[in-house]
Amino acid sequence: MRIFSGIQPTGRKHLGNYIGAIRQYVEGQTRGESIYCVVDLHATTVPYEPATLRKLLYDTTAILLAAGVDPDKCILFRQSDVPQHSELCWLLCSVTSHGELTRMHQFKDKSAKQKDALISAGLFLYPVLMAADILLYKTDEVPVGDDQRQHVELTRNIAERFNERFGETLVVPKHRIPEVGARIMDLQSPEQKMSTSSTNENGTVYVLEEPKAILKKVKSAVTDSGTEIKIADDKPGISNLLEIMAAIQGKKPADVEKDFAGQRYGDLKVAVAEAVVQYLAPVRERYNELRPDEKRIEEALATGAAKARAIAQRTLEEVWDKMGVGAPRMTRT
Ligand code: TYM
Repeated sequence: MRIFSGIQPTGRKHLGNYIGAIRQYVEGQTRGESIYCVVDLHATTVPYEPATLRKLLYDTTAILLAAGVDPDKCILFRQSDVPQHSELCWLLCSVTSHGELTRMHQFKDKSAKQKDALISAGLFLYPVLMAADILLYKTDEVPVGDDQRQHVELTRNIAERFNERFGETLVVPKHRIPEVGARIMDLQSPEQKMSTSSTNENGTVYVLEEPKAILKKVKSAVTDSGTEIKIADDKPGISNLLEIMAAIQGKKPADVEKDFAGQRYGDLKVAVAEAVVQYLAPVRERYNELRPDEKRIEEALATGAAKARAIAQRTLEEVWDKMGVGAPRMTRT
């Protein structure tokens, strides 16, 4: 069974990324052949600073390593080190419709946020590059948070369409979205998902944040009117805190709700704040040890890229042959 996932080296990684995705990467290493990619090419689709992109890539890679992604147990690499991703992206454009790309929520949200800035063609094609990432490795399973559901669906459509048009070649992957913690919400606006682009810094807890700051943010999370600690549509703030606690404790949210029956909102906030601090502290400590050694991070990524390229090239050549592009196979060296 092959597992593939990607993560952007943009901004600082937050509790949503950690619970929804990163911890699944770690768990995947014991279940199948795992391949994880830090997607720097995707990061160029919105305005960004070239001078900081490499730094952010090291930050994100070091967070993955600190979380327990182990280059001896998986393939961990940087997307741009494997040029087959960009090439397959182009080839898959021929089986992707313009209409379905215009319907992508992420494209709509991100293009709306660009205001006066350029809305790049890269932002529009983003999901095709993501499909290429996944399909190059004949992936069975894609661990992601809930916000990537539509992109994985599109990937499935692209694979099916390719196979129908050119013959059985690509594996149609399934998403793996966790039952608990697939959509961690913003602490200040709990009707929105937690994200790095939130307008209020206090709504997002970062993986590398100081314990004091985490305590403050969680304790000042927006709760709802009423007093009962209960999962309910009209209690998004309380429901989110229960979800976070459940994810950390490996329980069902309904069981955490029972644990807090009869207690006050303040009690729940303090308990969740302390749980989050304890949960992230070891990651932050390991990160601080690992991050300064950029040479070692670079070596780990290079080893991963060499392994990834070998797999990616095999798939790409199959695609060339099916599509009738490139030199015929027998003439290739
Ligand atoms: P990115 O870098 O935005 O997010 C990384 C992962 O974190 C998950 N996530 C969340 N989970 C729970 N609650 C939240 N509030 C939350 N916010 C983010 C995301 O679902 C994701 O799994 N397009 C991808 C990167 C990508 C990719 C791929 C993923 C590129 N190629 C191939 C899978 C396979 C993205 O933007 O992730």
